[in-house]
Amino acid sequence: MMAENIHPIFDSLLSRSDKENFLNQRSKVLWFTGLSGSGKSTIAQGLEKMLFSKGYFIQVLDGDNTRTGINKNLGFSLEDRTENIRRIAEISKLFLDAGVICINSFVSPTIEIRNQAKEIIGKENFIEIYVNTPLHICEKRDVKGLYAKARKGEIKGFTGIDSPFEAPQSPDLELLTENQTIEESITKVFNFVYSKISTT
Ligand code: ADX
Repeated sequence: MMAENIHPIFDSLLSRSDKENFLNQRSKVLWFTGLSGSGKSTIAQGLEKMLFSKGYFIQVLDGDNTRTGINKNLGFSLEDRTENIRRIAEISKLFLDAGVICINSFVSPTIEIRNQAKEIIGKENFIEIYVNTPLHICEKRDVKGLYAKARKGEIKGFTGIDSPFEAPQSPDLELLTENQTIEESITKVFNFVYSKISTT
């Protein structure tokens, strides 16, 4: 007997567009990149709330919910960051196939690392958002106290201090956060992505 006849159920697997239609949205990955303390997670979380209140279904991925679990065996060498982002990209692809909009907030410091993510996710699904906050502001805020530790040499290989951050050359959207409020940044992203995630 042919394999097809044994498992006819595989013919009826639901497609991504079935799930998108069910959720009444188009799934995309909104990829926030920027220095530690640039505000990307704050913007990502605010955007999630805003989109959710308008009926969109979203998953936020960031260091908090990935480096504590699936990626807890990874550090901050270039090799580990590359593997960190590779796994995140693969996870995002699963969410995309489930019709879910992903909001990802990762330093993702090099062009190559972000290109890898874009390739895995597919460029038609990938929206790169550069949260451009100058280093001196991130360092002044120092929400987690990590810049001070990096300056004292207590943390080695800290992005922006003794590990590179390569700014995106042509992001889909750039947020210059220095002179705008978090609400303004969120609104800018919403206005930019609205037509890409909506069915109408
Ligand atoms: S990435 O480079 O692999 O994309 P990721 O976004 O997951 O980094 O994690 C960055 C967060 O980890 C920072 O916001 C900071 O809180 C913390 N962190 C700890 N050590 C480092 C380091 N050496 N460089 C950058 N961030 C670090």
